Amino acid sequence: MTDNKIHIFDTTLRDGEQVPGCKLNTKEKVELALKLEELGVDIIEAGFPISSPGDFTSVNEISKIIKNASVCGLTRAVQKDIEVAAEALKYAVRPRIHTGIGTSDLHIKAKFNSTREDILRRAIQCVKWAKNFVDDVEFYAEDAGRTGNEYLARVVEAVIKAGATVVNIPDTTGYCLPHQYGEKIAYLVNNVPNIDKAIISCHCHNDLGLATANSIAGIINGARQIECTINGLGERAGNTSLEEVVMIIKQHKDMGFYTNINAKQLNPLSQLVAETMRMPVQCNKAIVGSNAFSHSSGIHQDGFLKDALTYEIINPAEVGAEESKIVLTARSGRSALAHRFQKLGYQFDRNDIDVLYQEFLLIADGKKEVMKEDLESLAKAHTKELAV
Ligand code: KIV
Ligand code: ZN
Repeated sequence: MTDNKIHIFDTTLRDGEQVPGCKLNTKEKVELALKLEELGVDIIEAGFPISSPGDFTSVNEISKIIKNASVCGLTRAVQKDIEVAAEALKYAVRPRIHTGIGTSDLHIKAKFNSTREDILRRAIQCVKWAKNFVDDVEFYAEDAGRTGNEYLARVVEAVIKAGATVVNIPDTTGYCLPHQYGEKIAYLVNNVPNIDKAIISCHCHNDLGLATANSIAGIINGARQIECTINGLGERAGNTSLEEVVMIIKQHKDMGFYTNINAKQLNPLSQLVAETMRMPVQCNKAIVGSNAFSHSSGIHQDGFLKDALTYEIINPAEVGAEESKIVLTARSGRSALAHRFQKLGYQFDRNDIDVLYQEFLLIADGKKEVMKEDLESLAKAHTKELAV
């Protein structure tokens, strides 16, 4: 594996949009697609064209305006789905059809009441059908996370032979541990004779909170595409979060990977997605949560004020976030209090701060956060006392 570029396949507009309450209309999807292209994603999964006339139109409109990224449409391993996706993608500069079928024994029996041999045949057939319309065909082996490696390797080899350019290995239920997912990718790299003819893709769900860790294990073991969403949105507990994988790759340069993402746009786009999808971001979310660059305990605040690197591995400006915050709570210390007074234009000496700190603690014990207004009244009262 020589090229260490990690292709970022964004599925905010497809898997992300499947979240109840996150449905987007065409105008919203087009606006977000343009922002995703500006962010630098390599592939935009724009929707599932056969699922509704609205989604067909969204994929169609996105295909017309996106010039640099590939535009992808999802299908089942069904001829009609593929034809409709091809039609929706007909204006795309770089169209991709994403087709596939469940490969775990559970999916084969419970969903399709079928056999491994029949599923293998349908997998080959859908890729061949999609190849009639586009060159770039991605095959997904749904529930690959719970599919036996030997059978998965047979499927992967066969679909590559049929023309798949990308093979997606989804951990659909978020079941795998990172070492298991990594081993699965390594197994394919080592046991599929024509694997060099396709890119391996990781599509991990977050049911056990392992989506990001699993995707990273995937690329360490040979995958070169990660499927992810802004804010980690997606079915159930969500998908791998785009901002997390991008910043892991950026922070850990020693792994030797890179992406084309302009990290400065991560926070603005996260906010836009949260507003457009009406789905707030949890405050402690890595990279884009409102607390991601807030410091509230005295020990941390003191260290941070001496050297930000003591408690921050990312400069907020690097990911387009507001500057770091020193939040005052009953766990805060004197340095933080002095710093906040200074920011408000008050210069107090050590003795003043000692006195003010005791008064501050009384307020802080009574509320969650001591606000600017509380500090103003504390400072004014203290200044008055000094003048008497
Ligand atoms: O989670 C999954 O398996 C999917 C496929 C349709 C790629 O979303
Ligand atoms: Zn998914």
